[in-house]
Amino acid sequence: MKLTIIGSGYVGLTTGACFAEVGHQVVCVDSDPDRVQSLVTGTVPFFEPGLEALVKKNVAAKRLRFTGSTEEGVNHGEVLFITVPTPPLADGSVDLTFMEKVAREIAQYLDSYRVIVDKSTVPVKTGERVAQTIRKYAKPGVEFDVVSNPEFLREGAAVMDLMKPDRIVIGGNSDRALALMQKIYEPFVAPVLVTDINSAELIKHAANSFLALKISYINALAELCELSGADVLKVAEGIGADKRIGRGFLNAGLGYGGSCFPKDVAAFIAISEQLGQPFNLLKEVQAINNRQSVRFLDSVREALWVLKDKKIAVWGLSFKPNTDDIRSSVAVSLVEKLVAEGAEVSAYDPKAMAKVRETSLASQIRLADSALDAAADAEALIIATEWAEFGLVDLAALRDAMQTPLIFDGRNLLDPVAVRDFGFQYRGVGRGITTERH
Ligand code: UDX
Repeated sequence: MKLTIIGSGYVGLTTGACFAEVGHQVVCVDSDPDRVQSLVTGTVPFFEPGLEALVKKNVAAKRLRFTGSTEEGVNHGEVLFITVPTPPLADGSVDLTFMEKVAREIAQYLDSYRVIVDKSTVPVKTGERVAQTIRKYAKPGVEFDVVSNPEFLREGAAVMDLMKPDRIVIGGNSDRALALMQKIYEPFVAPVLVTDINSAELIKHAANSFLALKISYINALAELCELSGADVLKVAEGIGADKRIGRGFLNAGLGYGGSCFPKDVAAFIAISEQLGQPFNLLKEVQAINNRQSVRFLDSVREALWVLKDKKIAVWGLSFKPNTDDIRSSVAVSLVEKLVAEGAEVSAYDPKAMAKVRETSLASQIRLADSALDAAADAEALIIATEWAEFGLVDLAALRDAMQTPLIFDGRNLLDPVAVRDFGFQYRGVGRGITTERH
């Protein structure tokens, strides 16, 4: 099928490349000429495992191409996917400026029937607004349908999540549009859930908020584990073994970050308030999440007393492993707080160093060449992101490199017993009894 993706950012590009991979003819549109230019040469402007190879392969196979022209995109695709940013406003609600702009642009070029899919994460009832906007600006009589088809991609696993999704959600109210949508997804082996537009839109915010809630639940439990001398890893295993609960997203740590969960939870709260029924449970989810890094920093302060002029190594700056994304990264905000208190921070991340160099933080910390280099002469090491390579580090070399062998493991990556055997003092998150010296 001929498909158009409008907005070649993270979601749009991955979606476009995966659609091309299963045989569709895909045009990806972007308003940034530099981005289009680099994509034409097969260069993906961010790190996502497998994506660049997929883009290059499908560009070469002539199933995927890029353009700056929305008109060309609207002419090409039978189905037009809108994948533009929906950033948060100051009050947590969603800024739909880009959605509205693209809806108007599509309307301007619409000559014959098209399905317009809103794939960006949007508040419930946005589909209705998109349809009204297109109707308002399109030529009289031109036919179209609006569909909601939310994405559930995790950064770092986006290609896999798209090729083998747990489910595909399609919300629409026209048989013609739904038939086309189901045809697009035929090559993907996954259950398809067909709903009305509002339900599909709500599913996205509800799913992300529930995952955030699971993380905050285990983080609140972690605090109780610390206070009672229990081990949160065992507690997570014990409750997660119940199939109704599940072990996923029960990893205690510094809390959730990234460009989705903080924004989507805030948006869902704002949506609930607009609908007249504030979702107070989610306010507590936010509060617990914010408390995690505060509590963690308190424990660093408790051990080091004064942070000013202390040499502190930080491993991990991306918001989670396998991505170079530092947006809303808890690791970065932790480093900022350490710097604000006068600590001398040496930081290392396997993929995010280039992104950090583009920020003002770069001039305030030492950007190390490796994990061991960051730890050289440090009085404490903080593990802020659980990159696999940090778990494989030579513990003897690490101990010898550091001034004081003290580890604050914000992601419970290391085995407390093993590190203690190498002479480290170790503090994890919610690891009461096992982290004490025997
Ligand atoms: C998330 C959703 O998983 C995805 O379905 C949606 O489409 C976009 O938002 P993403 O933000 O890429 O994806 O990352 P995810 O792997 O879900 O992690 C989000 C944050 O939660 C990270 O900061 C991670 O460190 C944290 N997290 C995750 C925990 O603290 N504990 C866990 O058990 C799981």
